[in-house]
Amino acid sequence: MNMGSVKKIIVTGSNGLLGQKIIYNLKDNEEVELMATGIGENRTADKSGYQYMSCDIGDAEQVAELFEAFEPDCIINTAAMTNVDACENDKDKAHRLNVSAVEYMIDNCKKYGAHFIHLSTDFVFDGEDGPYDEEAEPNPQSHYSKTKYEGEKLLMASGLDWCIIRTIIIYGVVDDMQRSNLVLWTKSSLEQGKDINVITDQFRAPTLSEDLAQACVSAAMKKATGVYHVAGPDIMSIIDSVKMVADFFGLDKKYIHPITTAELNQAAKRPLKTGFIIDKAKRDLDYKPHSFLEGLKFVKQQLAEKEKA
Ligand SMILES: NC(=O)c1ccc[n+]([C@@H]2O[C@H](COP(=O)([O-])OP(=O)(O)OC[C@H]3O[C@@H](n4cnc5c(N)ncnc54)[C@H](OP(=O)(O)O)[C@@H]3O)[C@@H](O)[C@H]2O)c1
Repeated sequence: MNMGSVKKIIVTGSNGLLGQKIIYNLKDNEEVELMATGIGENRTADKSGYQYMSCDIGDAEQVAELFEAFEPDCIINTAAMTNVDACENDKDKAHRLNVSAVEYMIDNCKKYGAHFIHLSTDFVFDGEDGPYDEEAEPNPQSHYSKTKYEGEKLLMASGLDWCIIRTIIIYGVVDDMQRSNLVLWTKSSLEQGKDINVITDQFRAPTLSEDLAQACVSAAMKKATGVYHVAGPDIMSIIDSVKMVADFFGLDKKYIHPITTAELNQAAKRPLKTGFIIDKAKRDLDYKPHSFLEGLKFVKQQLAEKEKA
């Protein structure tokens, strides 16, 4: 094998939904040497075909050790503090993981000449006039979105080869099902006959984790730079997406209770209407997203395979 042509890629947040899908996408790619990293032990079921190192991205020394151990050509940073209300309630932790950590990775990317691919969010926008393209002006409204936007700005000013991939509500099946997402939460709540309050006046484009992972991999392999909007093709209200999940899995919609953003009164302010214009990702990253219905079929098949295993 010609070692010169092998790309060395670090994927942070490898125990998370997106991180895990990127690991599965890349682990058997002969053009890639892969380092997965998360906090604590590796919780991804298949541990073959890549290395794993525990690293707290909020700790400058640990980040430096990770880079020193692997000397990457590229890093895909999916790790973050992603719980929007928790960020509102613990602002220091949100800053540590969504801003300081990015700073540490930038410093190390400079040292090793690495390409930095960073995940960000539709929440950098205020939701007044979605869907948004890459040129739209961010106006973050919550602490989570402010920290994610700060991370973006650090990268934009870094002088590195950087790529920011913004996405929207990620759904899919993860090996370690500790954390839920829109589809799994709806399915399990309705199966258990639990009442759920679901927002009527927020609009999003649910994104299949595998589709997003493919776009991240493509960005790494093509060394894409700049901002990319990568989300599902269907923009719908959250309640419509939840009802679609219920219909698809044949579950009773009587447990779904409509509620407005104002009535729900969550700690962090959410944008009302996002959704992305995804033409640039389709053009440059071979992004071919599944429709939400196709995505649900995909999830159903994965859940069936998981049950068989
Ligand atoms: N999920 C969405 O709907 C959504 C929407 C828009 C944008 N995004 C962005 O997309 C990216 C990926 O999201 P996701 O849904 O895959 O997130 P996720 O499932 O919450 O994964 C994030 C990962 O980061 C890890 N992490 C947390 N603190 C860490 C630390 N100090 N050091 C190292 N790792 C740490 C978590 O580890 P543990 O598993 O051990 O806690 C987790 O595995 C994030 O940047 C997020 O901001 C997500």
